[in-house]
Amino acid sequence: MLRHALEAQGHSVLEARDQAEAERCLRTERPALVLSDLKLPVGDGFGVLRAAKDADPDLPVIVMTAYGSIQDAVAAMKEGALDFLAKPVDPDHLRLLVERALAQRRVMMEYALLKDELARKRGAPRIIGNAPALTQVSSALQRAAATDTTVLLEGESGTGKELFARALHALSARAPGPFVPINCAAIPESLLEAEDRSFERLGGTTTIRPDVRVVAATNRVLRRAVASRQFRDDLYFRLSVFPIVIPPLRERRDDVPLLARHFIERACLEIGRRPLALSADAVEALVDYPWPGNVRELQNCLERAVILADGDRIHARTLHLAAPVQVVAHADPWQSVDLSGTLGEATERTRIEAERRKIQQALQQTGGDVGRAADLLEVGYRALLGKIREYGI
Ligand SMILES: Nc1ncnc2c1ncn2[C@@H]1O[C@H](COP(=O)(O)OP(=O)(O)OP(=O)(O)O)[C@@H](O)[C@H]1O
Ligand SMILES: [Mg+2]
Repeated sequence: MLRHALEAQGHSVLEARDQAEAERCLRTERPALVLSDLKLPVGDGFGVLRAAKDADPDLPVIVMTAYGSIQDAVAAMKEGALDFLAKPVDPDHLRLLVERALAQRRVMMEYALLKDELARKRGAPRIIGNAPALTQVSSALQRAAATDTTVLLEGESGTGKELFARALHALSARAPGPFVPINCAAIPESLLEAEDRSFERLGGTTTIRPDVRVVAATNRVLRRAVASRQFRDDLYFRLSVFPIVIPPLRERRDDVPLLARHFIERACLEIGRRPLALSADAVEALVDYPWPGNVRELQNCLERAVILADGDRIHARTLHLAAPVQVVAHADPWQSVDLSGTLGEATERTRIEAERRKIQQALQQTGGDVGRAADLLEVGYRALLGKIREYGI
């Protein structure tokens, strides 16, 4: 009778004689709704209810009870049943309950999708990676998010500082408010009145105290910059209340294949290409490469490879990674050095050449970032800039 009533409404119906059969059915099929009597020849409706909730906590279950056993119906609803039907079942009542349960399930699914989309819109980004060095960063981030303190994110260029800053915001109580990235290097110093978090609007007369949390990010090692007097120590102490250091990609190589697959998947989706696989030699090359530009360089490399690849696989040669530096053994490297002239002349010439090469190497390592090269060489920023000009690098 129930089957006829439901099929007449366009539903497909699967029948089970007892609890075991119902459990089997739940495992092999994915029903949108479960309708069960509480009394069964073997097992009972409570068992079916539990199996249904195990399979999918959101699966709606309607139980049927004999007239007068309202206690059982209440017990079932306490265990997660959506509703109950008293027997003998009235087909109109049945149809109504089923339609309502299915509509509610659709709303729940849409709600979950929207919640996901909203989180992404609010900027909750996906952070890929489970290397211990990165999970430590994530847990520090979560702790910082729960507070309203100033956070300082330090890490080389392309390590994900902005991504982590967005995640911090999305996890914090300020998530419904805006995330406003500011590139301090692009703002004239006179406009950056960050001190005491207050400022006056141009032409205004009152002091405005914005309600903000400051998350600062830098690709310099600020402690060293303070030591070499390139960064104000008072500002440093204000910013470094909660410092978080994001390790460079070469110190978490285990995450490289994971990140690579993520970027390939996304790039393929964007250009509407079937998902590409990575060949074994490509994975090896990716893991071996030092990634001076960190995750950003990895991302660019794979986006390029996705466009260039033919076939359904990305090979090492498609990645165009720079070959590792070849070590060539010289018999005597001093053979080729010009030591002519006086002691002073020969020393000066050699010193200059060594300096020039060392600076060039550092700049190559930092992808042309003079600030980071200065940190690496442990010289002042201005001094390095002077030498770069002097040697025409
Ligand atoms: N763990 C990660 N998972 C997924 N994507 C990442 C991850 N880390 C970085 N990225 C991506 O790499 C790119 C560079 O990250 P981001 O812009 O946050 O770097 P940054 O540290 O701010 O660099 P810069 O110092 O040059 O400003 C972004 O596209 C970011 O989404
Ligand atoms: Mg950045």
